[in-house]
Amino acid sequence: MSRASRAPFVVAHRGASGTRPEHTLAAYDLALQEGADGVECDIRLTRDGHLVCVHDRTVERTSNGTGAVSEMTLEELKALNFGTESEPEGVLTLSELIELVLDWKSRPTKLFIETKHPVRYGALVETTLLTELNRYGIGAPASADHARAVVISFAATAVWRIRRAAPLLPTVLLGESSLYLSGGAAHTVGATAIGPSVRTLREHPDLVDKAAAAGRATYVWTCDDPEDVQLCADLGVDWVATNHPARTKAVLTTA
Ligand code: G3P
Ligand code: CA
Repeated sequence: MSRASRAPFVVAHRGASGTRPEHTLAAYDLALQEGADGVECDIRLTRDGHLVCVHDRTVERTSNGTGAVSEMTLEELKALNFGTESEPEGVLTLSELIELVLDWKSRPTKLFIETKHPVRYGALVETTLLTELNRYGIGAPASADHARAVVISFAATAVWRIRRAAPLLPTVLLGESSLYLSGGAAHTVGATAIGPSVRTLREHPDLVDKAAAAGRATYVWTCDDPEDVQLCADLGVDWVATNHPARTKAVLTTA
């Protein structure tokens, strides 16, 4: 069944978020210690124009505060606690995460950066993101293999705008419809990879080969069940996003 020539790379989804609070330095630090090949984060723009790593529109679920990220300043978000009671942490900025990943010298860990709110603030998020990546010298990689940053989005428009502004940056078009991902969408926007959910992959395992035949990689989210991880390995998936990087790596090592 296997067409895989090597095991999938493991991406820590929101950091090692099965063990530490999501999108915190503690979660990313643990992911790197556990040997993650990549880390995933969601980004949003604050009222004063900073990119911060927060999944939801508001901060209620992941901090001790209330309100929308887009209506708060970075200083206000830094005053909240996104960590635990014993290890409190203010909001994590994208630049802090980039610095952590680039400082981790032993491995060329990749950053999978997901742009949220693509419609209302989308273009501004992307422009700010590219400025930030260029500031760290990772906005125009020599090749996809050498890229330290990959931009991922459910919004085809966001992927399309990134491809136009930064043609060398790898991109992933996320989605849950196999028709959408295997059809013309990824080609039209120039995505270098498709990103089906694991549920979509279970129903449409041929997606991986179809993408490969079109020169595209596959990034699957979010695989915590060992059977799903094994399925990804068997199908030759390139990147597997998981909340448990060490456990997922162990499954792949014994596969
Ligand atoms: O990595 C893609 C995945 O994170 C998409 O879903 O809701 O966790 O951002 P979500
Ligand atoms: Ca995400």
